[in-house]
Amino acid sequence: MGDLKTQVEDVRSSFGAAMASANSTDSLQELKVRFLGRKGTLTALLKSLGSFSPEERPLAGEALNELRDELERKIDRKKQELIQTEDAAAEAEDKIDVTMPSRGRPRGAFHPVAQTMHEIVGIMQGIGYSVALGPEIEEDYYNFECLNIPPWHPARDMQDTFYFPDDGRERRTLLRTHTSPVQIRAMLQYGAPLRIVCPGKVYRRDNDPTHSPMFNQIEGLLIEKDVSFSVLKGSLRELMNGFFGRELKNRFRASYFPFTEPSMELDIECVECSGKNSGCRVCKGTGWLEVCGMGMVHPSVVRSGGIDPEKYNGFAFGMGLDRMAMLKYGINDLRYLFNGNVSYFLSGRDA
Ligand code: PHE
Repeated sequence: MGDLKTQVEDVRSSFGAAMASANSTDSLQELKVRFLGRKGTLTALLKSLGSFSPEERPLAGEALNELRDELERKIDRKKQELIQTEDAAAEAEDKIDVTMPSRGRPRGAFHPVAQTMHEIVGIMQGIGYSVALGPEIEEDYYNFECLNIPPWHPARDMQDTFYFPDDGRERRTLLRTHTSPVQIRAMLQYGAPLRIVCPGKVYRRDNDPTHSPMFNQIEGLLIEKDVSFSVLKGSLRELMNGFFGRELKNRFRASYFPFTEPSMELDIECVECSGKNSGCRVCKGTGWLEVCGMGMVHPSVVRSGGIDPEKYNGFAFGMGLDRMAMLKYGINDLRYLFNGNVSYFLSGRDA
């Protein structure tokens, strides 16, 4: 019996040590098997009861059963504790902080040319103009003939375009070379008086660092009574200063367009160097930027628009939206606008 007592104490103390280091439900389960499993330490002792004398057996049995109950109780209690800590840890790991700010998404923006178009249209709407649109696949008649550019006219060389195959139709179709045909269409549709701007894509047979076969223009047309050239000059100054956000020096130079008479071109002070840098890459050291063609609408063009040029006159102007976008946003290669490489605009320009 004395022997059994030491054995019970041994089991108790090795169980105590094992319990202290069991720090997960898994290791606790292993411990349970080690002591109480089929081949466990305590089970072996219980099996040895048969070797006790009939007198000793009840006491020994009682002592061992008590020990087994004790171990089971302790294991159960520890198991509850461990389950709680393990659950709490799992919960902490899965925790979602609903107050955390979201990661957000990359921001989208309008294409610089679309932005420029909206800005210019916005300024012109402010001085009473509406927007008119026309087809990009245009008839030779509207693109050239009505605008005083007959088939033999040398101005056709400057605006060589993409013609559709001759399908026997009386009026050949082409990709419009400028937004000016919208002038005619709008005059025919709305009559006089009229104030419109016509933004849109135009096409020419050009392709180099400063010319693209497709580009964007915006056209303005005003038809009223007794319109003078000074109204045109004032409107364009308003437009340029509004667009660039400051007062810019400007000059009007005599020029030529078949559909306006007289014709002029507007130069503005270089937005990059204001004429102070003889090596300026934007104005090539001239201090001036050509931005817009214009003139008083030719009486025969007014007539082609179905309006009596004896009663009404007016002016028209046209400019490149891509060029305006490049000047305003400091973009130095036209191709960046069309090649779809967004990184150029995200990374301070020289990607
Ligand atoms: N249509 C001309 C061009 O593309 C520009 C322009 C428009 C000039 C209206 C005068 C009046 O070159």
